[in-house]
Amino acid sequence: TTDMDTTDRIEQLDNVVLSPDKNSVVIIDQTLLPNRLEYLTLSKAEDLYDAIVMLRVRGAPAIGIFAGFASYVLGRQIKTQDYEEFSGKFFKNTAYLNSARPTAVNLEWALRRMDGVVRENPHKTVPEILQLLERESLAIRKEDIAMCTAISENGLKVLKDGDSILTHCNTGPLATSRYGTAIGPVLLGHERGLNFKVFADEPRPLLQGARLTAFELYKAGVDVTLICDNMASLVMKNGWVQACLVGCDRVAANGDTANKIGTSGLAVLARYYNVPFYVLGPTSTIDLDCPTGADIPIEERDGEEIRSLWYREPMAPAEVRCWDPAFDVTDHSLISAIVTEGGICRPPFGESLRELVSREKGDAP
Ligand code: MRU
Repeated sequence: TTDMDTTDRIEQLDNVVLSPDKNSVVIIDQTLLPNRLEYLTLSKAEDLYDAIVMLRVRGAPAIGIFAGFASYVLGRQIKTQDYEEFSGKFFKNTAYLNSARPTAVNLEWALRRMDGVVRENPHKTVPEILQLLERESLAIRKEDIAMCTAISENGLKVLKDGDSILTHCNTGPLATSRYGTAIGPVLLGHERGLNFKVFADEPRPLLQGARLTAFELYKAGVDVTLICDNMASLVMKNGWVQACLVGCDRVAANGDTANKIGTSGLAVLARYYNVPFYVLGPTSTIDLDCPTGADIPIEERDGEEIRSLWYREPMAPAEVRCWDPAFDVTDHSLISAIVTEGGICRPPFGESLRELVSREKGDAP
């Protein structure tokens, strides 16, 4: 445990890394923030799976990075030199990890990359395949750092010095690697002496904005005001924000975007009050296999998160039904632009996203 007051710059904390002996994944336990900074060293399949389910590690890009390391760590535990047996067990582990949460496509994307390494190397020995798996998992993290930096640079292009921004959930360094996505431009701009103000939504029921975004921005010295989700309308009506910046868990081919529950409501408000609404995320979050938002699986979580999780005593009768969807889908028509590491996509998103993805893959135009 580290005393929060002695923490170095939050932007530079390593929230998901491979342990030096390569036997474990080391994460900051995000469920304990902002009160305690504790690192967890995880190597058992069930503990790795639980860390995703319990949101000890969360945020689409961070889940992807974690999944890469987790599958490698579990791969090292497979005791065989036989390719067929190794690959069978490896794919079983990745399917298990992939079943932890359904909405953020980065989980599946990272695990597919890891599976691909095994599938494409049937003639290599198991130790050689493990070496390639290690390299791939480290590459996923390294690429995320580069992507977040590029997203942050591109995000700065839609902002002006002095702007106030409304954000939802947590999309900062804790949800990614460095800087973050939607909060990345604010942190990068702040480093460069720009003055941004941020209104951070709480948001109910898991309070990632309060516990994580407010913490990250406050630690970084950014002017941040925490609000409950139901205050966003008034903030916009008062003309206090010039842009909404949100992250994404999966962007469908037509631009419909799944993100933390409450995001779509903000987008409706932003349209009404004429505030530009930007989605920021890596290209890996764009899922061209999902034609529209209706094809994105939405995670439903335990109603106890609403009833009792953050309270000293339950705040609703034990018998009352609670509905707890973790994400909603913002219609593409409400999104001003989708900002990625490869550029800024504008409507019509069907075209701009497809072009971006083929450019990033290096396909011929
Ligand atoms: O349930 P969570 O906390 O994993 O949800 C996180 C979000 O919705 C983020 O906005 C999204 O993953 C983007 S993080 C850069």
